[in-house]
Amino acid sequence: ILKGLQVAIDGPASAGKSTVAKQVAKRFGYIYCDTGAMYRSVTLAALNQGIDVHDQAAVAALAQRIKIGFEPGEPEQRVFVDGKEVTAAIRSNEVNANVSAVAAIPAVREEMVAQQRQIAAAGGIVMDGRDIGTTVLPNAQVKIFLVASAHERARRRFEENQRKGIATTTLAELQAAIERRDKLDSERSVSPLTQAQDAIRLDSTHLSIAQVVDEISAIIKKSEAN
Ligand code: CDP
Ligand code: CDP
Repeated sequence: ILKGLQVAIDGPASAGKSTVAKQVAKRFGYIYCDTGAMYRSVTLAALNQGIDVHDQAAVAALAQRIKIGFEPGEPEQRVFVDGKEVTAAIRSNEVNANVSAVAAIPAVREEMVAQQRQIAAAGGIVMDGRDIGTTVLPNAQVKIFLVASAHERARRRFEENQRKGIATTTLAELQAAIERRDKLDSERSVSPLTQAQDAIRLDSTHLSIAQVVDEISAIIKKSEAN
């Protein structure tokens, strides 16, 4: 018996998934799991260990070897690889540029999906990513596909980088990089980014964070009542 629902939030880069998922989880007392952080952690470990991200066997072995951990934190959840904090390091431009190649490796996805299903097994979870509603948790009671225009998503990430002091390119280059990653994520053969048939599509282009959190919360409450 599930103690709470499984809530899947998927969508393209920088649509607001993690920000919104974290707040929704807090509101319902659910666990939050950022699956993108897991693919980013594998990518960072490969870069740090000099493993070619296109060497599929080596990266897959690495994914099975490392221990990825989460701890609550503000303003964002803290991420650890083999006990070492990587919260900031996994957001670097170099990781951004390589993560889609790592995430396209079938054996890497197999390992991550197994870990994600274990984390979500007891219910009471909000999980965000690209393939949560389609592959990781196909029976999730609530599935959201969160989108926003590419220009708005680039603008948000640009502002966030400036706020956090993360080195960034121009807004136009950032938008191009985001669109490149969306294309790779949507066109890969294993679990591409795509909306699940039973997902609710939410366009946040003109919505505030609070408005998106309220909309998703209302959907969860309705589902809880059933
Ligand atoms: O935060 P942002 O949207 O920029 O990316 P993310 O959610 O941290 O995900 C980083 C990358 O991991 C994505 O571009 C995908 O290549 C991959 N990913 C995936 O393949 N499947 C997931 N469930 C989550 C992320
Ligand atoms: O997880 P994902 O890559 O989908 O996006 P995110 O990292 O949660 O959000 C990207 C940025 O957009 C963050 O700086 C949020 O504060 C901001 N955001 C926003 O300005 N308005 C929204 N409705 C949602 C997010």
